[in-house]
Amino acid sequence: MSKVLRRPAEFRQACEDARAAQRRVGLVPTMGALHRGHFSLIDEARAHADFIVVTIFVNPFQFAPEEDLERYPRTFESDLAGCHERGVDLVFAPEPNAMYPTGFQTEVSVKELGKPLEGGFRPLHFDGVTTVVTKLFNLTGRCTALFGRKDYQQWKILSRMALDLDMPIELVGCPIIREADGLALSSRNRYLSTSERQRALGIVSGLRDAFDAWQHGERDPDALRSLAEESVRPAFDHVDYVTAADPETLGASPPSPRRLLIAVAAQLGSTRLIDNVVLGEDPRP
Ligand code: PAJ
Repeated sequence: MSKVLRRPAEFRQACEDARAAQRRVGLVPTMGALHRGHFSLIDEARAHADFIVVTIFVNPFQFAPEEDLERYPRTFESDLAGCHERGVDLVFAPEPNAMYPTGFQTEVSVKELGKPLEGGFRPLHFDGVTTVVTKLFNLTGRCTALFGRKDYQQWKILSRMALDLDMPIELVGCPIIREADGLALSSRNRYLSTSERQRALGIVSGLRDAFDAWQHGERDPDALRSLAEESVRPAFDHVDYVTAADPETLGASPPSPRRLLIAVAAQLGSTRLIDNVVLGEDPRP
């Protein structure tokens, strides 16, 4: 079985020992409920490292009070089996009070990149993410850390943070893993009823319509955005945003871009889904 550690100090020591034994550490931070999207990060980690660490921690600080912290899926035993099958060396699964002991009061915040897209709807979310990932990076030490571009803004924010704060971490952004019908894998997909699962494909249709128009030469960001929105809106109960943005700044795109991020967040019942495509870079969703 993959070794499981729960105490931060022991985890730090295990990573130090691995490096002392000339092993390159690969870090895959997760909140558990592992699926093929997470496993793809573990597989990619092997290309960069030979001591593979998965962290499993449902970070309370990145959930707003009305969000799904309590019902977030917790499937530790099967997560562990999945890690073991893929040859993960170490699983770090701390308790919340080990990460945030009484008196904890420090926050890491990335300013501008955190404001658009998700930042407009989950104002404190990224401060929770950057704070916990800083702690995980500090405990792990020098490593390659793998993140999914499913959470595109998260990946960009964390890359900026590591650069700005001189963290000895190489970040790798990995492709979105999808179901056969195109729906991006997410721990939250299990909340969907059968009919909601069908309607969720509205996001995929929207991203594909934008992708196809781009392939046919359309370069107007707003035209591409509107095309995506036309498929998303009727399928969902509520659309938080369908945005066309510059893939680097996440702000407004120049008029005729070489690459364009189309990012979507929308709700079916109480389930919120996000997805995206970078036109001019990613394959068809
Ligand atoms: P979580 O949602 O568990 O995701 C862990 C990692 O898996 C993230 O880097 C995410 O982008 C990636 N991932 C999820 N679904 C994916 C998919 N379909 N294809 C490719 N990658 C996918 O993201 C978090 O946890 C947390 O915010 C965390 C970074 C662990 C901090 O708490």
